Amino acid sequence: MKIKFIDFNILGDERGSLIAIEELKDIPFEIKRVYYIFGTKQNVRRGFHAHKDLQQIAICVSGSCKFLLDSGKKRVDNIVLDTPNKGLFIDKMIWREMYDFSEDCVLLVLASEYYDESDYIRDYDKFLSVVDG
Ligand code: TYD
Repeated sequence: MKIKFIDFNILGDERGSLIAIEELKDIPFEIKRVYYIFGTKQNVRRGFHAHKDLQQIAICVSGSCKFLLDSGKKRVDNIVLDTPNKGLFIDKMIWREMYDFSEDCVLLVLASEYYDESDYIRDYDKFLSVVDG
C-alpha cells in the first residue's frame, strides 16, 4: 500500500490564502458528500472501519491529527495531517484510525458516495477476511 497525498495549490495574495478543490480535476472522483470532524476530545481515537466501496480524501483544514491506514497486508501508522494544502487519499477497503487530534483540529472529508451504513466494515477480523477473499 502506497500512501497517496494530494497537494493542493494555495491561491493567495496579501489578504491571505485560499484553496479551491474541483472534482475530477484536483481529486480523482465525483464528490457526493462532504463532512467534517471537529471538537474531538483529547485522547479520542476514531474511525476503526473500512469501506467496501467508498473513496475519500481527508484534509486537516485546521490544526493537526494522525492517521493509521491498513490494507490488510500492510499497516502504516503515524501519518500526519497538519496543513490545509495536503489531502490524504483513502481508497476503498482500507482500514483507518484517526488519533492525536489537536484541540483546533477540523478534519474535512470529501467522499465519493452518499452515507451508507451497509458500506462500512466495522470489525477488523471481518475486514481481514474480506481482504483475503
Ligand atoms: P463514524 O463514521 O462512525 O465516525 P468515525 O469514523 O469518525 O469514527 O460516524 C459517526 C456517526 O455519524 C455515526 O452514527 C454515523 C454518522 N454519520 C452520518 O450520519 N453521515 C456521515 O456522512 C458520516 C460520516 C457519519
